[in-house]
Amino acid sequence: MNTIYRNYYRQRTANQWRKTPAEHGDPSAIRPFLAGNWKMNLIPRAGVALAARIFDLCRDVKDVDMGFAPPFTGLSTLADYIEPDFLQREYGIGRNVFLLAQDTFFESKGAFTGEISSDMLAAIGVDRVIIGHSDRRANLGKYFGFSSSVARRLSKDFLTHTLKRLSQREQSQPQVLATIEHLLDDKNSDVLAGLATFLEAELNERAGESDEAIQRKVQAALANGLQVILCCGENREAREMRETFKLLERQLRIALEGVARPMMSEMIIAYEPIWAIGEGAKPAPLEQIAEVHDFIRNLLMDLYGEQIAARVRILYGGNVKPDNISAIMELAGVDGALVGGASLNATDFAKIIRFGLPD
Ligand code: 13P
Repeated sequence: MNTIYRNYYRQRTANQWRKTPAEHGDPSAIRPFLAGNWKMNLIPRAGVALAARIFDLCRDVKDVDMGFAPPFTGLSTLADYIEPDFLQREYGIGRNVFLLAQDTFFESKGAFTGEISSDMLAAIGVDRVIIGHSDRRANLGKYFGFSSSVARRLSKDFLTHTLKRLSQREQSQPQVLATIEHLLDDKNSDVLAGLATFLEAELNERAGESDEAIQRKVQAALANGLQVILCCGENREAREMRETFKLLERQLRIALEGVARPMMSEMIIAYEPIWAIGEGAKPAPLEQIAEVHDFIRNLLMDLYGEQIAARVRILYGGNVKPDNISAIMELAGVDGALVGGASLNATDFAKIIRFGLPD
């Protein structure tokens, strides 16, 4: 078994990233980040009660960073509770507890019913925001029914009506009119039905936030002084088709476009393979975690140079539990975890935060 470091430096020698031990308290050392993503769980006071039990089990733990991401409704109450002087007095914990939001919107205010902006989050004490979680990248179509609205638009009635409407407008594009006429031709009714079925299934399966929306969210968060946990990850299909690296590279390049070097060393990336997330799924095998984290770090090296690549914390997420956290933290490229289910259980999450320490 390798040694588990709770604080470390990272170096690249002979084309390989390695951790070397550092003294706790050295400002240039890397501190692991253990984050609980509560997703849509817990009313505000239940969140505070859970956090209190976790702190009680993590008394005097100062050497790693902990983050808590309650739903929007729980942020203010938890912000009041994790006031640093109180945590220090009550639990001997330092300034290593961070309040996380699960999402943000890219506009700062306006007619965007239901959305929350980054400056609103900053104003209530949020430190960092999770952006690009797969629940939002891939699952929105399924829940919000984008597919049925597209399928409706591919019905004969709708297209006939639309053709009439567009023909009366001067600026309508001839190509669009021609396509609609083509689809409405009785000879092509199979094409129309097939297209509707295909798009409905496709959007159900995959519609969600685009890479471009995620890029705008990252920019909005940073502009408002919030740090970011940027999620990326492939679905099972991409893994089976050996497209994992291509996909991750696209997700990260687009999301990070416009993020300047000084902002980058505080950025946290979370690698969450979709097939490894949630109840019933298995965590990714260690070799695959190691391989992807190295891939991401090498990509960061191409984009920002070796020094920044060595510092950026890359978390793993997907069925992290007390019994696998140590093996995951032994990997040279892993700097913490983004934890779903196990972060809702005080004993489990405390064990995850205390990885490598005696019980
Ligand atoms: P689980 O730990 O429940 O697999 O969830 C991972 C996750 O999605 C954290 O954001």
